[in-house]
Amino acid sequence: MRWKNTIDAYGGIPMLFHWLTAAAFIAAYVIAYYVIWIVDPDTSVKPPLFGLAPNGDRVVPILNIHWMLGISIGFLVVPRLLWRVFGTSPQPLGESRREIIAADVAHWALYALLIVMPLSGYMNTYDPTDFGLFVIPAFKDTSVFAWISSTLGVGWHDVEKPMEAIHRFTGKWVAWPLVVIHVGAALFHHFVRQDAALVRMLLGRATRWRETMP
Ligand code: HEM
Ligand code: HEM
Repeated sequence: MRWKNTIDAYGGIPMLFHWLTAAAFIAAYVIAYYVIWIVDPDTSVKPPLFGLAPNGDRVVPILNIHWMLGISIGFLVVPRLLWRVFGTSPQPLGESRREIIAADVAHWALYALLIVMPLSGYMNTYDPTDFGLFVIPAFKDTSVFAWISSTLGVGWHDVEKPMEAIHRFTGKWVAWPLVVIHVGAALFHHFVRQDAALVRMLLGRATRWRETMP
């Protein structure tokens, strides 16, 4: 098992970061809409789905899991971006220049999501995030916000409102379609093109794939 990327395949560590992020991202989505559609009495659908009754007391404890996942994604993306910019990346597998550019744009758009969603989410949340062993204070209670507020003369609502709009809009209309296209492209490469695009992102399979390289 190689830990770092080579020009043929992803290394173990970038793969681990990719799959941890992917799982956390999907789970963050499921939890957000579970709360919005089922748990929160203000927004739950009527009649209740699966007969589950809304319960306002459960909103913050369940959303706290969404916040934990989201903040973790925000931290995980930092080393990934550094590797992407300064390290080796597997060479693109597109069949034309246009395809290669499209894949590159899609990957950078996904990275942009991994920054915008955690940041906008964190910056519009009233409550601290409780990780069990430690607590991350809400943005409005940090010295960073106090500094921004005194330097730019803005209040909490001037920050919270636009951040909420960005988080909601991107969550509702932008993030999931991009991820669906991304997963669709990976499956297209695997099953239609039958190239190594997916295999070289899979632990174990990537090692076997590298061994077949001349
Ligand atoms: C990659 C990370 C994240 C993803 C993919 C994500 C996704 C979402 C989605 C899809 C929604 C529902 C949008 C809607 O239709 O209104 C949502 C709502 C929300 N998110 Fe995130 N989020 C992320 C990170 C965060 C973080 C780090 C925080 C705060 C620490 C946060 C706080 C919230 C809050 C407060 C809501 C509103 C929930 C409600 O209306 O009850 N999110 N998020
Ligand atoms: C089950 C779902 C997923 C599958 C099957 C999948 C598959 C893949 C594959 C095969 C690659 C390598 C592409 C290549 O070599 O050109 C890749 C790269 C990438 N994926 Fe995913 N992915 C999934 C979910 C996600 C999610 C949810 C995100 C984040 C929102 C994400 C973000 C990325 C990024 C940023 C890259 C580029 C890595 C780099 O080269 O720097 N993926 N994915």
